[in-house]
Order: sequence, then structure tokens, then C-alpha cells
Amino acid sequence: MLIIRNIGQVCAGRRGAVRLDEPDLLVRYHDAAIAIEDGKIVWVKAHYDEPVPGAAQVIDAGGGCVIPGLIDCHTHTVFAGTREHEFVQRIEGASYAEIAEAGGGIRNTVSAVRRASLEELVDLALPRLSRMLAWGVTTVEIKSGYGLSPEHELKMLRAIKAAGSRQPIECVATYLAAHTVPPEFDGDAEGYLDAVTAYDVLERIKNEELAEFADVFCERTAFDVAQSRRFLEACKRFRMAPRVHADQITQMGASKLAADVGAASADHLETIDDAGLVAMKSAGTIAVLLPACSFYLGVSQAPAQRIINAGVPAAIATDFNPGSSVVESLPLAMSMACTQMRLTPAQVLIAATSNAAAVLGRSDHIGTIEPGMQADLAILDVPSVEQMCYFAGRNCTRMVVKNGEIAWRAVKG
Ligand code: NIG
Ligand code: FE
Repeated sequence: MLIIRNIGQVCAGRRGAVRLDEPDLLVRYHDAAIAIEDGKIVWVKAHYDEPVPGAAQVIDAGGGCVIPGLIDCHTHTVFAGTREHEFVQRIEGASYAEIAEAGGGIRNTVSAVRRASLEELVDLALPRLSRMLAWGVTTVEIKSGYGLSPEHELKMLRAIKAAGSRQPIECVATYLAAHTVPPEFDGDAEGYLDAVTAYDVLERIKNEELAEFADVFCERTAFDVAQSRRFLEACKRFRMAPRVHADQITQMGASKLAADVGAASADHLETIDDAGLVAMKSAGTIAVLLPACSFYLGVSQAPAQRIINAGVPAAIATDFNPGSSVVESLPLAMSMACTQMRLTPAQVLIAATSNAAAVLGRSDHIGTIEPGMQADLAILDVPSVEQMCYFAGRNCTRMVVKNGEIAWRAVKG
């Protein structure tokens, strides 16, 4: 048995997708201890002052706060190349959409990914994942979407799987072949979709268990609603649950589409309208807010308060990618949600744990701290989640436990 003791506060939400406008979101145990066995939480006790059983391994949390391992439910962590020239172009006045329309943006990363081997993609992803782990992240969703041909999309999905097997973070893969239309299919989005939804491609993904989710960028520069629906429905037949990059730049009804196809989430939502909100609420579609993306692009944030007040559960993720959000730190994105979207630290913790687990279909075993749950935890060097969010950009993680094992610890300074 492993016992974490001298915990100032255990801070966690409830299982499943939680509305963030509900009162008493967090369960808090003060002066607590947590017992772990066989990778699972056995008990959580407040005001723990008992002698520890002799055989147990003990971790002293030093009065710090313990939170569930963070879950980054929307990233593009596998990629090659960098795009700092676009960063400079935007500073000089170009918009993200203008850069895409001029043939840059996602297509720049596609060229670099096509040149890279599977091994090179894995080698590029591993240090990113190890930095995420150090921020307290224990589960990460990673999308393909920079291969944009059956061969290179499969290469990306295999790289995600390999990266997941070579370090402690669990990597959940999403097939994002519908990210944009590649140059060789210019003006022929339908022909491109034929290629990436061909029976043998989707069957290969299913048989090799390469992706749990399918995602589409429903946007003027990428795919319209009908094309997005077609892609997601095709993938659904091969057991990939839909997700949608929705309402980011142009309002085209993408969040309504997400609700219609029973998507696990609609992500971005900077331009969401009331029809989208109503549809998401009634379908139970979770909103994934990406504050680091709007921050990085220097544009207005999604209307988080309107989304929350409409009764739609919200998650928060980094959207880490080489173009619109090079932010690897989920705690930084959480602090941004506090200051830019006016969410409380309690709300953002739920958004990055309980609700992120719900997006990824994993509420039954990760996202909270309760007996029986997988022991994925972050031990902080601050006493509360409020203080963690307050120290925006500072890494407050002292130790990370994944599946009951110590996966990372800060070097004592
Ligand atoms: O979520 N919006 C589309 N896809 C990514 C950006 C990808 C890129 O620019 O490389 C996003 O922001
Ligand atoms: Fe994204």
C-alpha cells in the first residue's frame, strides 16, 4: 500500500459531466491522507492523524494540495516543424484565417509531418509529453490531422499510440483527417473525404485500435457542415466517437452539427450562437473551451459565461499545436480561463478533470479522487487549487502519481 499523508487539502470534483453553475462544485478534505493499492485509490480520509501501517510506502505531501491528475482533452501534440514566421505575421497584422487562405497555417505543418518518419514524430512528441507530465497532466488526447492522406494520417495515429506506450501519460488518439483539404485535392474536398473515409482506411484504424474519436475542423477554410457530417458519420460506423472543432472563426452551425451527430464535445465555440447552445444542452454535448488558443491568436475568448449559464458542461484544454496555441501547460490555460473567462479556480479544476474525463469517455475511472478510481494524482507545492491558478505560469507541481506509481517528482531546490 502507498499512503500519501500530510495533505493540506484534497480537492476534486464529482464523476461525470458537471454543470459549472452548480453550487459546491468541489469536494475538499482537509489535513488528509490517501491510500493507494494496485493502482487504485482505496480510501481518502480527512483529519488523518493515525500511525501509518508498517508495510506501507509513505509520501509526505508537505501540506500541499492534491488534485486529480489533469486531463488535457484537446491537443495536437504530435507534429513536426515550427511556425514562428506565422507568429510574427500575426503580430504584424495578418489573421489566422488569412494565413490559412494564403496556403500557410495547417498546410505548413502538413509538409513537415509528411517528411518526418513515424520514429521522428514519436521522438518529437516525447519531450513535449514529459513537460506536460511535469505540469500534473496524466491523460492527454492527441489528434492526427497533419498527414492529410491515408498513409500519413495512419503514420500519425501510430506515432500517437507509440508515444503513449513509451512514457507514463495515457494518450487518447483522435482521427482528424478532416483538418483541412490538402494541396493535391485543392477545390475537391469531397474527393479528399472519399480517400480518408475509404473502407480499408477506416477498417485499419478500427482493427489496429488507432483512434477512439474522429474530429473535423468545420470552418470556411476547411469543411462545411454537410462535409463535416459526412466525415463524422463514416467514422462513427467504425466506432470512432465524433468531436468537432466548432464555431471558432465563422458561425456556420457547427456546434448544432456536433449536437446532431451526438458528438462527445464541440470545441472552441468563440462564435457560438443561441441555436448551438440550445442544441448542445439538449444533446448533452460538452463544450471544450480553449483559452490559450484565443490568447495566442490575440482574439476574443469564447463566451464561457453564456455557455455555462445555458447549462452546458464545460471542459478546458490547451489545444497545444504549432500554429494557434503553442501552450503545453494545462495549468496555464486554467489560469487564463480564470482571468480571461472569469471562471473560478474551482470551476476550472472541474473543467480540467471531471468534465475532461467525460469528454474522453473515462468518467468511470479517472477525473476524481474517490475509492475505486485509478490513482492518477498531482501533489502540489501550494495549499489550494486557488493558489495554483493564482500563480499563473508557475509550475506548482511537486509530484505526479500515475496508476498508483510515482511518475514524476520535482527536483528539490
Ligand atoms: O484547434 N483550428 C484548427 N486546428 C487547430 C490549429 C491547427 C494549426 O494551426 O496547426 C486548432 O486551433
Ligand atoms: Fe484544435
